[in-house]
Amino acid sequence: MTSLSRHTVAITGGARGIGRSTAQAFLAAGARVAIGDIDADLVAATAEELGCAGFALDVADVDSFTAFLDDAEEALGPLTVLVNNAGIMPTGSFLDEPLHVAERQLGINVTGVVIGSKLAGNRFATRGAGHLVNIASVAGVIASPGLATYCASKHAVAGLGEALRQELPARGVAVTTILPGFVRTELIAGLSPGRIVERIGVVEPEQIADAILDAVATGHVGARFVPRAGAATARLMNVLPVRMRDGLSRRLGGHDVMLRTDETARAAYRARTEREPSVR
Ligand SMILES: NC(=O)c1ccc[n+]([C@@H]2O[C@H](COP(=O)([O-])OP(=O)(O)OC[C@H]3O[C@@H](n4cnc5c(N)ncnc54)[C@H](O)[C@@H]3O)[C@@H](O)[C@H]2O)c1
Repeated sequence: MTSLSRHTVAITGGARGIGRSTAQAFLAAGARVAIGDIDADLVAATAEELGCAGFALDVADVDSFTAFLDDAEEALGPLTVLVNNAGIMPTGSFLDEPLHVAERQLGINVTGVVIGSKLAGNRFATRGAGHLVNIASVAGVIASPGLATYCASKHAVAGLGEALRQELPARGVAVTTILPGFVRTELIAGLSPGRIVERIGVVEPEQIADAILDAVATGHVGARFVPRAGAATARLMNVLPVRMRDGLSRRLGGHDVMLRTDETARAAYRARTEREPSVR
């Protein structure tokens, strides 16, 4: 395994799922790691279990994000990597989606990544080195019904990453955008991607972690699809005429996978990601 012992890494949304696996992989490679998460109890438990620093964090709040980076640097030393991983994926009919759910998604998935990229990017630029890894999605380059606001948010992350890839190296900052397909975490609870996608397009969170570590170890900048088949599918979808694109989407099950959910299996995920804000 490549040693990443010179790295000090902050990971948002690190209490579970891809963020947790990424923290575990960086620790195994010798890096120092801080995780932040909106779920304060779970992030403390995960940090203790993995043996890393853990802090409560709301990525959509600039003061909270600043405090997270300050706390991480105070505990571990200057950061060299920020993984902007925190994100939520409410599914279902766009017209029935409550506005607060759309706002929450855009706040976490887009504003959170913009805030993190600015705050950490400035720290890295001051020191002349650092790596931003932003987690987008295949939904950042193609789109499906039942996922409109999420697709909008991930297209924003993909666009941000492509612009920063070109802009920030002059300031010493590398930028990688990771575009996962389906990953076996609670985020996809109650979804049935269909036989073909299940066979070639569903990966484990550890595979996303491996891609992130490889990008940091090799200084890879730009977009990286996991699994790699996602790149070919996305490229094909984007060059096909609309009618053929819709036909392929139907064959792959993408036309209704986000609308046809097992609500019992998805209830706990919905409860933690779509709750009404307590203060407006
Ligand atoms: N699982 C997939 O199929 C998949 C596919 C493509 C992209 N992604 C992206 O990967 C990232 C991680 O997803 P995951 O599958 O591990 O989901 P997950 O739900 O397992 O983990 C996400 C973590 O982010 C935390 N979080 C939510 N809001 C937050 C906030 N405001 N501030 C800080 N932390 C917050 C949650 O508490 C949770 O611990 C997300 O950006 C997601 O959109 C996931």
